[in-house]
Order: sequence, then structure tokens, then C-alpha cells
Amino acid sequence: MKHLVKITLFFFLLIGCKTNQKTNVKARGLMTQKAMVVSAREEASKIGSDILKKGGNAFDAMAATELALAVSFPYAGNLGGGGFMVYRKANGEIGAIDYREKAPLSATKNMFLDGNGNVIPGKSTLGAMAIGVPGTVAGVFAVHEKLGSLPIEDILKPIIELAYKGVVVTKKQESRIKHYQPFFRKVNKDSIIFDKLWKENDTIKYPALAKTLERLLEHGKDGFYKGETARTLAKFIQDNGGIITEDDLAKYEAKWRTPIVFQYDDLKIISMSPPSSGGVSLGQIMKMIEPYDLHTFGHNSVKSIQVITEAERRAYADRSYFLGDPDFVDIPVETLLSKSYLTKRMDGFSFEKPTSSNDIAHGTIQIVESDETTHYSIIDQFGNAISATTTINGAYGSKLYCSDLGFFLNNEMDDFSSKPGVPNMFGVTGGEANSIAPQKRMLSSMTPTIVEKNGKLLMSVGTPGGSTIITSVLQTILNVHEFNMTMQEAVDAPRFHHQWLPDEIQMEVKGFDINTINQLRKLGYVINEKESPVIGKVDGILVLKDESLEGGADYRGDDTAVGF
Ligand code: GLY
Repeated sequence: MKHLVKITLFFFLLIGCKTNQKTNVKARGLMTQKAMVVSAREEASKIGSDILKKGGNAFDAMAATELALAVSFPYAGNLGGGGFMVYRKANGEIGAIDYREKAPLSATKNMFLDGNGNVIPGKSTLGAMAIGVPGTVAGVFAVHEKLGSLPIEDILKPIIELAYKGVVVTKKQESRIKHYQPFFRKVNKDSIIFDKLWKENDTIKYPALAKTLERLLEHGKDGFYKGETARTLAKFIQDNGGIITEDDLAKYEAKWRTPIVFQYDDLKIISMSPPSSGGVSLGQIMKMIEPYDLHTFGHNSVKSIQVITEAERRAYADRSYFLGDPDFVDIPVETLLSKSYLTKRMDGFSFEKPTSSNDIAHGTIQIVESDETTHYSIIDQFGNAISATTTINGAYGSKLYCSDLGFFLNNEMDDFSSKPGVPNMFGVTGGEANSIAPQKRMLSSMTPTIVEKNGKLLMSVGTPGGSTIITSVLQTILNVHEFNMTMQEAVDAPRFHHQWLPDEIQMEVKGFDINTINQLRKLGYVINEKESPVIGKVDGILVLKDESLEGGADYRGDDTAVGF
């Protein structure tokens, strides 16, 4: 008997030890030695990683991953949209490219208003009037031409093959397609490929898209912006009541931009400049919270949530008032990111009670943005890093699908403020700076970001999520830097979001301690756990101390890291 007790005790001790060991071991994402791609679909990450294996660099892999997402992730990946990329070369050189959509030449400030000056519901979100001139193909070719190393054929061929071979439907994709079918039927005159009842494990083939990609192989960027594709696209859009012309397409150019760079503790953050609000707003929030000791307050503690919320409230109010396309409006970027301005901005903050959004200056405008963008991060075997976010805005964009060319068209015109002071589809209120004008780029929240620590590459990170993009990127960086999480833990951790108006904290459902929520409510914060069950789908890569790479692929989507 005595013997049996001893054995039993030993057994429980062993289990206890194992359990303890388990809780001490940090959850890590994919670990590789040399290179990695993390994106919304395994097929796209694999094509990008294969390009790196072939000897291509991060810029070749950017072109490959972006276009592979256009095939494998039609929900947000695209030829009919636009995006932004930030890069850091192995030698420390940094840069950014803006391939954001533009308003057509015949766009007008009040094009989404009725005779009484009211916003016409759905006009900037559904169908052909919602489309901005697409920039993705121009962006891909500009990146490849300036920074790529492999012939474009090597990049395009596997993608064309994928389009012909088809892509397997995932469980999440099955429910997304089903959910949006009523909109596809409402917007498209003819039946489209996505009207079919696709089920998990079915394969969808994209021969029309493959042909469109073949024209890129033959004619480069002109294979999209001129000739057969441009003719077909302009005619299709106009036949559906839109205003984009062949001239609009021929005139489109991607633009190299200087990224926003700022310091947070010993980190150098490199992020996207206007016409994305991402870098400026991220910078404002991080500089406002820098004086507070979040590490001591603790992850998702009441105090940390208060400090971050109050900084977000102030930054989003500024975003709505000051930010727009820098080619059309003067943006006081230096002032907005200056210590003196941001210190003053946090005047009035107290742990005792929330600041009211009505008391924050420039308080007449609200923000609404769609959250179905997609992000990918790449680090290559040479030490180059890119961070790119691309979108057609809403889920499947305007829902208008050009069957002859094989892709959805964006509804990015909704990211302009149709009527200053009235929120867009993300609830974000836009100001005069972001009003519509021909050839202007609409304000974005996309925040592709690269982080350096002590002069060395630390992280490439980004996410979809409309107006929640900025705050999701923020929390992921803080999770690693302040709360010592691995890349995967930082991506998985529950997120919250405040965007000035509406004056509430959105929280991921069941992600937060009920006591924390109750304390925040008691202090006077309005908590919304309902409307935004998922905040962002973050993908990132962390460079560890021994220079190996850890991927963080968000479980909230089908996101996957692939590398070697
Ligand atoms: N359409 C979402 C964004 O640009 O932020």
C-alpha cells in the first residue's frame, strides 16, 4: 500500500512538472533560419517563399505574393484594388510605395450626395460608382523594376499556373462566399463564378484571371493599363454605370513615398506615410503613450487600456481633421508627431475618468471604414524586409466582378469623406482634407510597418481591419516590446480599439477579463463587445536574438507562414 502511495505521488509530481513546463514554454509560430513569408493564404505564402528559394529577394517575393493573393484570396487580394508597401533593405535603407487607388478624372466632390445634399446610401460602397482607379498592378511592376532581381516571367508563371489549376476552398472561405452571395446577385447583371454554392475542399479555377495575368507576362504593366484589359475593364465599368475611362487607367502611376519614421523607447518604427493615415496615427499614439510604464501596468490591464484608449481617441480626432492625399492637401506631419504637440494633446488625461470625445478638438467628424483588407510580411535570406497591405476595401470590394477579366473591383471611393462629418462604412468620420477630387487618393488606415531595434531589423508587421488596422499594429508591437510576447502570442492576444467616434471601446468578444471590463465601465467607459468580434488579422515576422525568424500568422483567418 505504502509503495502504491509513493508511486501515485510520483505520478502526480511528474504530471505537475510537465504542466508547469508547458505553461513556461512560450507559444511560437513557424521558426525558420533564413527567410519567411506570412500572408492570408498558404498558397500565396508558398509561392512567395518559393521565389525566395529560387534566389529572388523580398521585392521579387512581394510581387509574387501580392499577385498570388489576387488569385487565392479574392475576398481582399486583388488586381482591382490598391495598397502600400514599406521596405527596409539589408543595408538599412528604407522606403515606401503608394499604389493606392485614385478618384477618376470625372469624379466630383458631391458625387455621392442627392439633391438635398444627403449621402445616397450604398452608392459609394456597392457597384460601379464605388470604384477607384486600381493601383495594384502598377505597384507590383514599380517594385519589381526598381528593387527586384529575378525576371518577371519567373514570378508570374507560378501564379498563372495557380489560376489555371485552381485554389481549394477553406471552411472560412465557404462561409464568406455564402454570406456575400446576395450582394453579388444584387450588383452583377449576369451570374458570376462566386454565385455557385462552393463548399470546403472544392477547387475554384480562374481561367479568365489566368488570361489577364498572361497579358502582364506579355506587355508588363501596360498589359493592364492599356490594350485589351484596359478596354474591357473601362467598358465593363461604364456598362455598369461607372465613370472610369481608358484614360483614367492609362494615367495611373504608383508613387514612391518617404515613410514615417519615429522612435519609441529603443525602437525605430518605419511606417506608411499619407495618403495612408497609418504611420502618422501610429506615431501619434505611440508617442502619447511612451511616457507611461505599460510594462508595469500589465497587458490588457485597466490602466494600460485607459492610456492606449485616450491616446487613440486623440490621434483619431487628428486623423479625421488633418489627413488626406499629400498631393492635394498640406499635412502638418512634423507638428502632429512633435513631442510638444503630443504632450499638450494628452493634457486633461486622468486615470480617474475618460475624456469625452466631444471635448477633443476638431470634433465634428466620424470614421467608418471597411475591414476586409489583407496584409503580408516578408523577410528574405539577404536580410531585406517588406511589409505590404493591399485591399479592395470591403469584402469582395464593390461586389462587382468582371467575369471576362476574372477579378472583383474595389469600393475604395467610400474611403473618401463623401460628405465631411458623415461616417463611412467603418464609422470613421472624414474631414475636408479627405474630400473627393479628380485624381486624388482616398485616405487609408493601412499601416504596413517595419521595426528596428538598436539599428537592426526586428519585425515586419501589418493587418487588415479598416480603421482598426492602426490600433492592431500598435498592440502587436507593444505585446512584443512591453509585454515580452513571442510573435505568435502577440498576434493571438485579444485586441481592443477606440477611434474617437463613436466614443466607445470595441473589444474582441470573450477576450477580456470581466473584472477589467466592469472596472472600465465603472470609470465611465462605454464597452462594445458586439459589433466588431474580430479586430484585425495580423501577420508578422520577428527576428530573434540568434537571427532566426519567427512568424506570427493570425488564427482569426486562414493565414499561414511559410519559409526556410
Ligand atoms: N480600405 C481600408 C483602408 O484603406 O484603410
